[in-house]
Amino acid sequence: MDADLIKLVNKLQDTFANLGGELDMPQLAVVGSQSAGKSSVLETIVGRDFLPRGQGIVTRRPLVLQLIHTPVPDPSSPNSTSYTEWGQFLHIDKRFTDFNEIRKEIEQETYRVAGQNKGISKLPIHLRIYSPNVLDLTLVDLPGLTKIPVGDQPSDIERQIRSLVLDYISKPNCVILSVSAANVDLANSESLKLSRSVDPQGRRTIGVLTKLDLMDAGTNALDILTGRVYPLKLGFIGVVNRSQQDIISDKSLSDALDAEVEFFRSHAAYRNIAHKNGTKYLARTLNQVLMNHIREKLPDMKARLNTLMGQAQQELNSFGDAAVMFNREQQGALILRLMTQFARDFVSSIEGTCVDIS
Ligand code: GDP
Ligand code: NA
Ligand code: MG
Repeated sequence: MDADLIKLVNKLQDTFANLGGELDMPQLAVVGSQSAGKSSVLETIVGRDFLPRGQGIVTRRPLVLQLIHTPVPDPSSPNSTSYTEWGQFLHIDKRFTDFNEIRKEIEQETYRVAGQNKGISKLPIHLRIYSPNVLDLTLVDLPGLTKIPVGDQPSDIERQIRSLVLDYISKPNCVILSVSAANVDLANSESLKLSRSVDPQGRRTIGVLTKLDLMDAGTNALDILTGRVYPLKLGFIGVVNRSQQDIISDKSLSDALDAEVEFFRSHAAYRNIAHKNGTKYLARTLNQVLMNHIREKLPDMKARLNTLMGQAQQELNSFGDAAVMFNREQQGALILRLMTQFARDFVSSIEGTCVDIS
């Protein structure tokens, strides 16, 4: 994730924490058909290998993934941990530093509640990832939309999964990554239909088109990627995730990212739009959406700041005679200084981080 945005959000969160408030950031959820590549996309956004992925129904419980920014530990401090990144589940009191172990624990916890035979459960798995490289943000991985029940799935599986997905994506604070596979006709995309039902104007939906590498020879998705097929304000972004063979052969995330860049650069149909596709561009777009979200929240935040300062003023007044120590002028100066500091920090951070993606 973008280092400047991480800095900005942390600064704002600190400012609010100091004043006794909090900055609520949006949640990000993936919606799409089974095996469209949802878990793969989330994993590349986080930049670590830790999610179960694969053919068929793999994600069978919602995974609520809370990213928590932690400073790099000071190696000279005797109490410092030697780990900079680790995971912690809500259901087990253990610090996971091996991300492969995190994946195994997600799998086991899925089996424990949703059974061995393709069953689905609404009960979420809660996982926190602590890292210096992330932004305080909540990502939700969801089971895929499906029509025909298999294994232990009930006959109304389609309705159950839709209702489960809607629980998350209908929140106005949720940014929707609507994932469709390029080797399936977009007209049949269940994820777009569902996203549109909760975000008709497409204000908080990003279209993600996966599996561009698996399209039939001689066909391409240029029309979709340039917005000529399905209009979305935030547009469609094409990505190439690791294939099943890549997963089996343990291909690294960074090798996969390099291969993805090469795919777009060398493809005759995508060469000219290569800079507006791929996982890195998706991450930048996401940053932009988060920045816009913060901008929209700014008036609200200012109002809250005013209230908090009014409260502080009242508290100060309640000290009675002791408050004489601070005369009116000094109080006014203090509040003004806080306000100015806040406004200056905010404006300079925003200006420094703005990325024009149009
Ligand atoms: P989910 O069910 O939507 O979460 O999808 P997964 O992320 O589990 O991926 C399903 C399967 O599709 C896995 O075998 C992935 O390796 C494969 N896959 C996902 N995205 C791509 C892609 O862009 N290209 C290729 N070739 N395979 C992909
Ligand atoms: Na899958
Ligand atoms: Mg999945």
